[in-house]
Parts: sequence; C-alpha cells; structure tokens
Amino acid sequence: MRVAIIGSGYVGLVTGSCFCEFGFNVTSIDNDINKIERLKKGEIPIYEPGLEALVQQGLNSGRLSFTTEISEAVSNADIVMIAVGTPSRRGDGHADLTYVFEAAKQVAQHLKDYTVVVTKSTVPVGTSRKVAQIIQETRLDLTIGKDFDVASNPEFLREGSAITDFMRPDRVVIGAESENARKILQELYRPLYLRETPIVFTNIETAELIKYASNGFLAMKIAFINQIADICEQAGADVQDVAKAVGLDGRIGRKFLHAGPGYGGSCFPKDTLALAQTARQLGTPMSLIEAVVEANDQRKLSMAERIIKAVKGKKIAILGITFKPNTDDLRDAPSLVIIPELQKAGFSINVYDPLYNANQGQAEAKPYFSNIEWSENPYHAAENADAVIILTEWNEFRALDLKRLNQQMNKTKENLPHLIDFRNIYNEADVTPHGFQYSSIGRPSLKSVA
Ligand code: UDX
Repeated sequence: MRVAIIGSGYVGLVTGSCFCEFGFNVTSIDNDINKIERLKKGEIPIYEPGLEALVQQGLNSGRLSFTTEISEAVSNADIVMIAVGTPSRRGDGHADLTYVFEAAKQVAQHLKDYTVVVTKSTVPVGTSRKVAQIIQETRLDLTIGKDFDVASNPEFLREGSAITDFMRPDRVVIGAESENARKILQELYRPLYLRETPIVFTNIETAELIKYASNGFLAMKIAFINQIADICEQAGADVQDVAKAVGLDGRIGRKFLHAGPGYGGSCFPKDTLALAQTARQLGTPMSLIEAVVEANDQRKLSMAERIIKAVKGKKIAILGITFKPNTDDLRDAPSLVIIPELQKAGFSINVYDPLYNANQGQAEAKPYFSNIEWSENPYHAAENADAVIILTEWNEFRALDLKRLNQQMNKTKENLPHLIDFRNIYNEADVTPHGFQYSSIGRPSLKSVA
C-alpha cells in the first residue's frame, strides 16, 4: 500500500516514518525545499527522540522518500494524508485552515485511481467535509465514494514520546463513511490492530470532535489540579498526595494531574481556543473550556508574580525554557510569559536549557526572547543570581549538585538564595540544608508543618 503525506512537520514526519516502519511505502511531501533536501540526507529539522534513526531506517529501506513534488506521489497513492499546520488564527483563536484547504486543492488536481484522503491535521468539526467539497469542486470529473473518499484520523502524539505513542497508542480513531475507506484504513492500522489496539470507527464529525474533546479534557485536568494546588498552598495540604489519591479513583485516573506552571506546547493552547471558538459558532458555548483557557493564561502570570513577590534581588536564573522536557518546542511555553514579566519587574535573566545551550540553539531561540544571558550549564546560570527557577523538568535538573549551585549564588545571612521549583522535582527537606529558601507548587512548607 502506498501512502502520501502532505506536510513533513512534526506530525507528518512521525506518522510517515512509523507507517514506513510497518512496511508501507511512504512519500513525505513538503513545499519547503530546504527541509526536503535535509530530510533526504536523513537530517531531522526537529528534536524528537528516536525519529532520526527511524527516518534513516526508512531511507535505507527505500520505502521512505521525500519530495516537494506532489503530483506523482498523490497519483500513485492509495491513501493521502493531510498533515499540514493549523495554527491559531490571530484575533479569534479559530484554527487557521488555509494550509489544509490549499493542500486539498493540490491533492484534487493529482488524484488518479480510488484514493482515501485523510485529514490528520487537527481540524475543527466540519473541515473534512469541506475538504471533500473542495476536491469535488476542483475536479468535477470525480465522484465521491467511487473515485475518492474523505476520512478523519486524528493523531494523539505527545512531543518527546511521539514514536512510542504512535507504536503503542491507547486507541486509533477513524472517521470514515464508506466501506471502501474503512477497509483501506483498517489495513493501514492492521499492525496495531494485531497488538490489540482498540480501533474506534465513527462518522467523520465524531472523529474530528474526539481529538478536541480529548485535548480539552486533558487541559481541563491540568487547569483543575493547578487550582487545587493553589488551595493546597493556602490550606497546608499537599497537592501531590491529593492528585495521587484522587487519581486512584479509576473513574478519574492518575495521569495529567501534575500541578505546574501551566500547560503550553503546540496542541493544548491552540486546541482549547479552537474548541471554544467552534462551540460558540455552533451556538453551544463551552464555558468550561473558556474557563480553562483563562485559568491557564492567568496561571503563567501568577507564576511570575509569585517570583517577583518572593525574590529580593536583581538576577534570576531560569532552568528550562521549553514547554516540557525532551522537545525543542517553545510554542506557548510558560517561559515566554514568565521571563518577560520578570524583566518588566527589573530582573536580569540567565537561562540554561539543555537544547538551547549551544550557539545554534541560542540563535533559534532568539526571536522568542530579548536581553537574556545564555549559560553553558545550570551552575553557570546560577552565578550571582538571587534565585534559580526550575521551569522545565529536564532529567538533568533532577540531580543538581545543590551545594555547588548555592555557592555560585548571591546571598547574605538574612537573605538566602531561592530555589523555586515549579515542577516539584525536589523536596524542601533535601534542599534547605544547602542554604536555600525553597518553594514549590501546592506543597506545605516544613515550617508550616512544624
Ligand atoms: C498533547 C497531547 O498529550 C497529545 O495527545 C496531543 O496530540 C498533542 O498535545 P504535547 O503537547 O506534546 O501533547 O504534551 P503533553 O505531554 O500532553 O503536555 C502538554 C503540557 O501540559 C506541557 O506544558 C506539560 O508540562 C503540561 N502538563 C502535562 C502539566 O502541567 N501537567 C500534567 O500532568 C501533564
């Protein structure tokens, strides 16, 4: 079976190389010629553990190829997947579907034998049907159901563990309305079916909504536990114990109940906004999701306020700027809000992030920040700082030499340096003996316990 994937970004690349690993022939298409040239040599434009090896394997097997040329790949394909970006539209938060619709038009021009056109990009309800309409309008000679079908097959990949998520998903969702389309997509996912992955067949609109409902719900869980953490801080309770015990209720589940500085990334912020917008447009506003969006925006600001209130001094070291570990993605990361707020309050900022410590990395991060000092390691970042803030839970921050860290920092007897741990990767009892004032998220201070 031949698969053509339009868009060689994060989703397209992971999906394409994984299908290739299953044994299918995959052509990955993108209009960015530089990107395609690099990919042909096995160079990966993004950081995702395991992806480079998988792409290389695909190239070596001869089953994975990259091109800017859409015509041949689409004409020969049994399945065409649209995996282009759907960024938030400026102003109203609705997903910008320009690239999806443009891809649909181009695909239409090159369809030959019966093909299933699949929307893989996260698209608002109704988009796949619009894709079908565009194909139909572009090619009056084609009949839906006979020459082509449209289906929705959302992805649920987490950055940093996308390959495992693809290979061992909790479920696969296929929204398809003809027997032909269902059969072909079932065949595509057979390797997962053999591993007993539940495959949920639905109509097209349902599949589209499943993606938003999933991300909306997960974002809601995070916003919920973050607010519980605030209560814990006032009440002297421990949010980690609350989350653990609450999560042991099988109806709730333990995952995504880790309190922190607010969610970021390429999905939750964009998808919650788009869900709220779709709901409003359909006349069924989702006040829950609107509140989640508002709470998460507020969360990031309140993290900055908390630092500004606690730290008497001039210099702050930030450890980790990406929205989570094992990714180089800065999109909607809490650091993008927190760092400028600290600068506004007069602090100078040193930054260390494992993926942005090299010169090239710093150049890539430059458009996101201004006037920050880049450091080579956490200890370098801590030099003369009044506080160290852990913003991302990279593994290498989990066993810092706290004594050495403290030695670098600015301090007096009355004013000990701060270690502010927004990911709860340390305990107060382990940190304070090294001469820090320690604070974390939603956990009682030892002083208030005593
Ligand atoms: C998410 C979804 O998990 C994935 O299924 C979807 O397809 C794309 O969006 P991703 O954005 O890669 O994946 O990261 P994820 O691990 O879900 O984390 C998102 C954000 O939530 C991060 O900022 C993370 O720090 C935060 N988070 C996550 C918490 O604050 N607490 C948690 O318990 C879990």
